[in-house]
Amino acid sequence: MADTDSIFVGGGGEGYGDPQDLLLKYANRHGLIAGATGTGKTVTLQILAESLSNAGVPVFMSDVKGDLSGLAVAGSEAHKLHGAFMERAATIGFTDFSYDSFPVTFWDMYGESGHPVRTTVSEMGPLLLSRLLELSEAQEGILNIAFRVADEEGLPLLDLKDLQSLLVWIGQNAKSLALRYGFVSSQSVGAIQRRLLVLENQGAGDFFGEPALDLDDMFHVDADGRGQINILAADKLMSAPKLYATFLLWLLSELFETLPEVGDPDKPIFVFFFDEAHLLFDGAPKALVDKVEQVARLIRSKGVGVYFITQKPADVPEDILGQLGNRVQHALRAFTRKDQKDLRSAADTYRENPRFDVEDAIKEVGVGEAVTSFLIKKGIPGMVERTLIRPPSSQLGPISSKERRAVLATSPVAGKYETAMDRESAFEMLAQRAAAAAKAAEEAEAKEEEMEAREREYQTGRRYSGTRVKRSTSKTTTRKRRGDSAGEAFAKSMMRSIGTKAGTAIVRGIMGSLFKAR
Ligand SMILES: Nc1ncnc2c1ncn2[C@@H]1O[C@H](COP(=O)(O)OP(=O)(O)OP(=O)(O)O)[C@@H](O)[C@H]1O
Ligand SMILES: [Mg+2]
Repeated sequence: MADTDSIFVGGGGEGYGDPQDLLLKYANRHGLIAGATGTGKTVTLQILAESLSNAGVPVFMSDVKGDLSGLAVAGSEAHKLHGAFMERAATIGFTDFSYDSFPVTFWDMYGESGHPVRTTVSEMGPLLLSRLLELSEAQEGILNIAFRVADEEGLPLLDLKDLQSLLVWIGQNAKSLALRYGFVSSQSVGAIQRRLLVLENQGAGDFFGEPALDLDDMFHVDADGRGQINILAADKLMSAPKLYATFLLWLLSELFETLPEVGDPDKPIFVFFFDEAHLLFDGAPKALVDKVEQVARLIRSKGVGVYFITQKPADVPEDILGQLGNRVQHALRAFTRKDQKDLRSAADTYRENPRFDVEDAIKEVGVGEAVTSFLIKKGIPGMVERTLIRPPSSQLGPISSKERRAVLATSPVAGKYETAMDRESAFEMLAQRAAAAAKAAEEAEAKEEEMEAREREYQTGRRYSGTRVKRSTSKTTTRKRRGDSAGEAFAKSMMRSIGTKAGTAIVRGIMGSLFKAR
């Protein structure tokens, strides 16, 4: 591990200002990487990941186009850009530039290009799930009831099947549940069930279940003291943008709920890169944006840096943008008036440099070049500079599937998540309870029939023989009301137990995922 307190990001040649460094102790003050397509955002992400890893900081990022997988292998002199890289390194005074590979763990929600990454429905919680399912307020209310019932009743919600069966049950017992929770509209229940089907069709069924991701597996530091680079394969996932955005939010919220307070560490504990960040905020309800803002603000003191990557800074809500201290702004084009306005507001957020006009610079910078500003002494924003971003040490562009397989086979978590587990949970438990209730009802019915038969026998005996027939002493005289379905019987027993279990509800954090102290 390089013993360093900063990361070299890039510099300039003639006419440029000072070399630009990201100070590790301010790397948890969040950041922004912005720019039009093809301007160099991914390479910037790549070099930041490399340097953070070298400094012993594990990171997480999603790989939207597959090109970040190159981090796992060293760059090569045979690469077509080798000459350009060397030239650039010389221009910016990057004298110890060399090729290197990095410790990478590939993750994939679909389990194809990486280790499967899963969570349980219960861990995700009702807030994020409602967002994922795009539920209306009324439907979200029902989902909250479902989670309450599951929490209080000890019905584990692990996979989508569990939630489906709980919803079926809630639909069947809407009347009795209304006594405690208020009106439960069967239409809303139906709507949620349909949304769940859509989600399943997007392949999200694989994401919900066990073994669920153990966050510790993302914090790996290798024998050389280098932080693990966790890369989520997101190419396929991008076709389900809501699932993508919700997954990243969930991960962020897990980090937040799990990590302890550390104040201001010398270097971040973890850095989280949020690529295609506009997907997170597009159409997001204000309440959710507020929560993201709150988590971003609070997660700093847990030593986590969050970096948003998007085309234009205006994609990120202002309250959050204001928290992003470290900025790499690649070129923005300004064709329309709206573009010009966005450009102006992007330029306005920098500490001016008398040597150039920020707005012009953002329009002019070339590929792999950026307008940058990093926090300096005392955490104040450094003066904006034009910066040639340093070339990557790892391979530019994707690795082959053979190389990927080799990385997966030797990963520290190889084999841990590959086989899905289907533990007994709400689905099985509800089925069992329904069966038990049905059996109990059947038995009661049989007993009742037996009683009636005896009664008839007794009456007949009295009428014809005049001898007394011994009455049954069985106490099964409490007749079960006819029409009391198994479900209703269960609902009643459940309402009783809810009453006695108050206070055992699971504690949920800001974004509704489970609160877990480490
Ligand atoms: N720091 C750099 N050093 C050398 N070359 C670079 C650098 N950054 C970018 N380039 C060149 O520019 C190309 C495009 O960069 P990159 O893929 O990072 O763009 P992008 O902004 O991520 O684009 P998109 O929005 O399409 O994903 C790279 O393939 C590389 O050839
Ligand atoms: Mg890119």
